[in-house]
Amino acid sequence: MKRSIACIALTLLPLFAAAQDRRSDDYVEYRQAAFTAMGWHFKKMGAMIQGRAPYDALEFKRRAEAVSALSQLPAEGFLPETQDTQLATRLKPEMWYQKERFDTYMQDLITATAELAAQAGAKDKDDLRSVYGSAARQCKNCHDRFRESD
Ligand code: HEC
Repeated sequence: MKRSIACIALTLLPLFAAAQDRRSDDYVEYRQAAFTAMGWHFKKMGAMIQGRAPYDALEFKRRAEAVSALSQLPAEGFLPETQDTQLATRLKPEMWYQKERFDTYMQDLITATAELAAQAGAKDKDDLRSVYGSAARQCKNCHDRFRESD
């Protein structure tokens, strides 16, 4: 009886291991999806600021609020287990021994995008240029240090 349980456990072991891998891949896909959605709205706001798209205060505010909410999501995707992912990732491996710095950048992003959402709705888009720029700087700070270039 004991033996057959042990056998079953051994048979199931690779299944658990596979489920574990799959789970860490899910986290990688999740964080990339969160960044992609954030980038989508952020770019559309940039086009308005730069005059490549007509400025619409309500649309800008809706997008700024989306970015602010989305900025809180990717952090959960940086699970240590994702270091062994087989998926393509642009995360630089050195992040794992500079995690505190990374977390600070993430927090700075959350703060800057909350400020952008708070000021969004302004009649004149030029009033948003500097607050948009300061959110964009948070993207760049982290990408320069922790994201592989193309
Ligand atoms: C704290 C660090 C950090 C901040 C802040 C940050 N990013 Fe990223 N971003 C990353 C990392 C790391 C990846 C790669 C994730 C992966 O491939 O697993 C990434 C990926 C992306 C992607 C996915 C596609 C690609 O090029 O890899 C987009 C789009 C993106 N970021 C946009 C933004 C925008 C827009 C902002 C600011 C509003 C921002 N990010 C802020 C770290 C950050």
